[in-house]
Formats: sequence, structure tokens, C-alpha cells
Amino acid sequence: MDLFEYQARDVFEKHGVPVLAGAVATTPEEARAAHETIGANSGGVTVVKAQVKTGGRGKAGGVKLAKSADEAEANATAILGMDIKGHTVHKVMIAQGARIAEEYYFSVLLDRSNRNYLAMCSKEGGMEIEQLAVERPEALARIAVDPNVGIDEAKAQEIVDAAGFDAETGAKIAPVLVKLWDVYSQEDATLVEVNPLVKTEEGDIVALDGKVTLDANADFRQPEHAALEDELAADPLEAKAKGMGLNYVKLDGNVGIIGNGAGLMMSTLDVVAYSGDDFTGGAAKPANFLDIGGGASAEVMANGLDVILGDEQVKSVFVNVFGGITSCDAVANGIVGALKELGDSATKPIVVRIDGNNVAEGRRILEEFNHPLVSVEETMDGAARKAAELAAAN
Ligand SMILES: Nc1ncnc2c1ncn2[C@@H]1O[C@H](COP(=O)(O)OP(=O)(O)OP(=O)(O)O)[C@@H](O)[C@H]1O
Ligand SMILES: [Mg+2]
Repeated sequence: MDLFEYQARDVFEKHGVPVLAGAVATTPEEARAAHETIGANSGGVTVVKAQVKTGGRGKAGGVKLAKSADEAEANATAILGMDIKGHTVHKVMIAQGARIAEEYYFSVLLDRSNRNYLAMCSKEGGMEIEQLAVERPEALARIAVDPNVGIDEAKAQEIVDAAGFDAETGAKIAPVLVKLWDVYSQEDATLVEVNPLVKTEEGDIVALDGKVTLDANADFRQPEHAALEDELAADPLEAKAKGMGLNYVKLDGNVGIIGNGAGLMMSTLDVVAYSGDDFTGGAAKPANFLDIGGGASAEVMANGLDVILGDEQVKSVFVNVFGGITSCDAVANGIVGALKELGDSATKPIVVRIDGNNVAEGRRILEEFNHPLVSVEETMDGAARKAAELAAAN
């Protein structure tokens, strides 16, 4: 999960990373009020910043200086509702204005290919960092970080030296890097990026912008992270599926898909997409990814159907299960259970292809159930074609 800048700011503050005062506003009036409080600490100057989970906000006009309450209100009016790379701005942060002397860059992230962490640091931070990384990669120091050691004082010193800071500035930055490591490790992040990390006219080091990505795999030991989720952006079906512990991603098409195992799910998506193109002229497309996993029970199957049938865009459903640990009779019982529960409210055809563990019993259960909406197909290709044609026709 990516955090908004204001959330990153709060997490930084919690771990002792130096940040400036900031407040979130969803209306121009709130922005005005926030300017009046926060600007009082910085000579009446604040910065109104679009809160979207994408980069390049400044260049898109989403970061604007305000020297009066009127200006803060006008900036918020201009920025709220703005579209930045496909993200609508619903909130702005009113940040205390900094008197910037220099802008630096720092990040630490998961380096999958080398199976450790990577810290990057530059004396030349700011909005042109992407260009710098391409044109003058030597100006961006890259230092491997051992996960078992992290960024301690010695590592922080190595990083600031590699970036070429003078001794005095380096000595001020190093302790901040140690605290940013605390954010990274204690919050189970996979990315912590500060751009810009600034030195102010007063000589203080401050994190002026933060990007943090949290590892959802660690949610079980990070109960506070649930509160950071963005309700505005959450898809209601995805939220429902998550509540049921299902691995579900909503897509744009009309063929609902349930499979077991990520590999089979991916190839099922492909086969449905090809069938949609070949047999319906592109009128049928996958509506979702839903992996019920290995060893799925009848209940999990029924929950999966419940979520998919609740998607208004879905016109047909394709259940494609290869029984390994999962047994096909459990899958069949899940389908029967879900349809009994739904009764007359079930209206969408379900094409089932099951194979593997206990397939004969699975097929027998579906045959005996003999539901008008359910058809059983022998092959994956045949089932995909049928589901695509049904979706296109409905
Ligand atoms: N609180 C502040 N006070 C003064 N100047 C600021 C403040 N916040 C940001 N700025 C200036 O605005 C520039 C852009 O801000 P910021 O880094 O937050 O946005 P961005 O880089 O465009 O966004 P992103 O990092 O999402 O691409 C900074 O490099 C800095 O010069
Ligand atoms: Mg930035």
C-alpha cells in the first residue's frame, strides 16, 4: 500500500524524522483555516500540495506557495479536483513554508534481484531527480544495505560520503538517515523516499516530501496500518473480497473468473481474453482475477461466487479449477451451496471446468444438482469459449 504524503509525514514524525507542520484539507475553506494556523510559524507562508499517490505533482501544478490566507484558499480551489496522471485530487496538505537552501534526495527500497536493500542518495535532489538518474547516474550514490544490519551510524556515514556531502552537512544528514531506516524497518515498508530532503537557510535538515510503500504481507503485525487505507479509492467488491480473505482484483470485462492457483488464474485470463477476441469480436473480456488458492473449501468457493455475481458488469462466470489439494467435490458443493443461497436472484450463467482430484464426484454432484444456469465443460478452451459467448450474448 502506498501512503499519501501527509500520511508519510505523520509516520516520519512518529519515528523522529524532522518534518514541518502540515494539515489536510478537503475544501478551500479548510485550507484557509489551516494556512492561518500553520503559516503563523513560518512568516505567513505555506505550501498547498495535492495529495495523490503519484509523482510529478509539482510539475503538474499541484504544489503552490501561498503568502496569504486568500492565496491558500485560491490555491486549494485550483488544486482540489485537479487530475494528475489519472489521479483526482480529493485532499490537499497545507505545509509550513520552508526557506530552502539546498535540496537533496534519499531513498531506501527493497532490491529483489540482489536479495537485500538498496539506499540511494544525492546532493542534487528535487523535481529533476529522474533526469539526473538517467543523465548523470554517478551523481546518485547507490549503497547496498544488509537487511540484518540496516542503516546504523556507520552505514549512514558511508551513504553520505558516497553522495559526496561535506563533513559538516554529512554529519547533520546521517542521523536523519538512521531515523528513516527506523521508518523502513519498523513499519515494514518496501520503499521510503524523501525528495526533497532539504537544508534550510537556518541550517536544519528537514524531510519536505515523503513517499512510503508499506508491505501488505506484514499487515498481521501492523494493526495500525489498516487505518491508513484510502476508503475513497477502495473498490467495494475488492473490500468485500478482502474481508472474506479472498485474493481478488477487479478488472473491466464481463466474464467473471474463479480459478485456483495464480498460474492457472493467469492462463485462464489469457484464454478468456483470446476467446473473447476470436469468437465475440472483443465483446467478452475478463472481469476479475480471483484465486481461491490451493485446498479451497466449499465455503471459499461459495464466497468467491458471491463476490463475482455481485459485480454488475459480470454477464457470465467461468469456474476453472484443477484439483490438486483442492478436491473437485468441494468445488462442486461450493457452487451448489452458493446457488441455493442465492435462489432466484442468481441469473448469470456459470460455466464449470473441473479436473483432477475427485473430479468424477464433482461432476456427479453438479449433474445431480442439474441447475439451469450451470454447464460443465470438458476442456479449458471449450469452457472459455462458452463463457465468452454467453457474456457477449447477455
Ligand atoms: N513545505 C515546503 N516549503 C517550501 N517549499 C516546498 C515545500 N514543499 C515542497 N516545496 C518545494 O516544491 C517542490 C516540489 O514539492 P514536492 O517534492 O513535495 O512535490 P513533487 O516532487 O512535485 O512531488 P512528487 O515527489 O510527488 O513528484 C520541492 O522540490 C520544493 O522545492
Ligand atoms: Mg517530491
